Amino acid sequence: MNVDVLIIGAGGAGLYAALSAVKENKDLNIAVLSKVYPTRSHTGAAQGGINAALANVDPSDNEELHTFDTIKGSDYLADQEAVKYMCYEAPKIIRAMEHMGVPFSRLNNGKIAQRPFGGASKDRTCYSADKMGHVMLHTLFEQCIKEGVKFLNEWFLLNIAHNGRRVAGVSAINIATGRVNFIKTKAIILATGGHSRIYWGYTSNALGCTGDGSAAALRAGLPLKDMEFLQFHPTGLRKSAILVTEAARGEGGHLLNNKGERFMQKYAPGKMELAPRDLVSRSIMGEIREGRGFKDDEGREYVHLDLTHLGSEKIKERLPQIRELAIDFEGIDPINEPIPIKPTAHYAMGGIGTNIKCETEIEGIYAAGEAQCVSVHGANRLGGNSLLDIVVFGHIAGKEAVRYAEATNFLNNDYGILEKDKKFISELMNKQSKETLGDMRVELGEIMFKHFGVFKNEKEMVEGYEKLKNLIDRANKNLGVVDKSKVFNIDLQSTLEFFNLLEIANVLAFASLNRKESRGSFYRDDYPKRDDEHYLYHSIIRKKDDGSFDYQKGEVDISLYEPAERKY
Ligand code: FUM
Repeated sequence: MNVDVLIIGAGGAGLYAALSAVKENKDLNIAVLSKVYPTRSHTGAAQGGINAALANVDPSDNEELHTFDTIKGSDYLADQEAVKYMCYEAPKIIRAMEHMGVPFSRLNNGKIAQRPFGGASKDRTCYSADKMGHVMLHTLFEQCIKEGVKFLNEWFLLNIAHNGRRVAGVSAINIATGRVNFIKTKAIILATGGHSRIYWGYTSNALGCTGDGSAAALRAGLPLKDMEFLQFHPTGLRKSAILVTEAARGEGGHLLNNKGERFMQKYAPGKMELAPRDLVSRSIMGEIREGRGFKDDEGREYVHLDLTHLGSEKIKERLPQIRELAIDFEGIDPINEPIPIKPTAHYAMGGIGTNIKCETEIEGIYAAGEAQCVSVHGANRLGGNSLLDIVVFGHIAGKEAVRYAEATNFLNNDYGILEKDKKFISELMNKQSKETLGDMRVELGEIMFKHFGVFKNEKEMVEGYEKLKNLIDRANKNLGVVDKSKVFNIDLQSTLEFFNLLEIANVLAFASLNRKESRGSFYRDDYPKRDDEHYLYHSIIRKKDDGSFDYQKGEVDISLYEPAERKY
């Protein structure tokens, strides 16, 4: 198969990239490859909204304030010109999506409604009740169909072929047939999303958020950047870890400990429940650690998110999905009772390192969305900036990839990856599994949550890293595919995804051990302070041929605002 521009991943970043690519040049062969049907992509799980300084609610808002809030929220690790670019593009891209038909909630005057969100100095988050990602995803998909974008649905990315300088194509399995194929490409865009499933049972992420593109990039010799920064969203449902949107607090929800206290008063008196996520998650875990949380019969610890004072009408209008999730997964109606919540692994600030044009080190390989690290989120992303990031950088990636593809030829070589992948898969299929994939995934999640969770320290991380290496070793030796069929072999796909998760967890653990400070989402009890003198840099990690890691330090762009102490 020959495709000029192949976009891998059909979430918001992939679909926006595809749309911008076809609009840039209709004559090119542009296709999206996705392991799920596009409207099942994880963007659909984004709830609370998308940030843009439209100033519809507060006329004093502007792009500069958005830029500053984002940089401060990032604990000064974000690259500041990139943040500025994203924030200044925000109003334009919201209007573009409004014109495509994204059904935003409205103010009485007909303008797009905006709500308060964590770490933001103004009411800046545009929303569609509590289903912003869902409506964006569906609108972008329908626009792609309208523009004639081709889709390879239920195809799974394996590896990337290149000659050291330029991309040649990718290997991928057609899940419906089990056949491994090589797709020749001039350009690819990795828009494969995040990897918080490394925290298996402790994450808001869809089952598919397994870092497939990032792991493939790592295997292809590309560096991953800032992988130690993994955000815990403060409010996941107690039992399932499913997201309860920040909008619940934006609309006025309170966090309460077992004494009925609004404990955020102690940690962020100026912002209370709407402090940034790193701070709120630490505060919740701190309350639990000091005995002021609740514990259920099965030993799960949590605090309360109380919405009861908002009243039935507001909850039904602004937070209908949250109500439904709380009823379905906790048996609790938030109109009458507080929701039991705990922090949940939610978002990877780290990913495939790119410049502002979404280019990686290898010509023709681009990355966009959560898989990418530009970096606009630094050490801690603000709520509502993810949906923004995916469309702003999806748009750039689509246009840039087209320009590159227009000026280049196919490399007629797969550099051996097709044979190698066929062999690997056949061995995996023929291997007698000595351990169970399901148990190993749970084990991975337990290791990551216990040793690389909200609070970290050297001893816990070293112990966790040993456990992780043992798990990786066992997976390589013992894990095979139990289901031997070819058609829709989900066991095979899940096993490949698990190997990707292990690759990513390994990098995250390694990066974490190398940062001896606390910054944003990355908090160490043994080094509780930010240390700009020694650690104001991006960690850049690549895999060497022997499987060990090369670690480099990348400069942070602080050209707009000097790092300052973060207070809320
Ligand atoms: O809380 C939320 O609605 C999540 C938003 C985000 O991660 O940006």
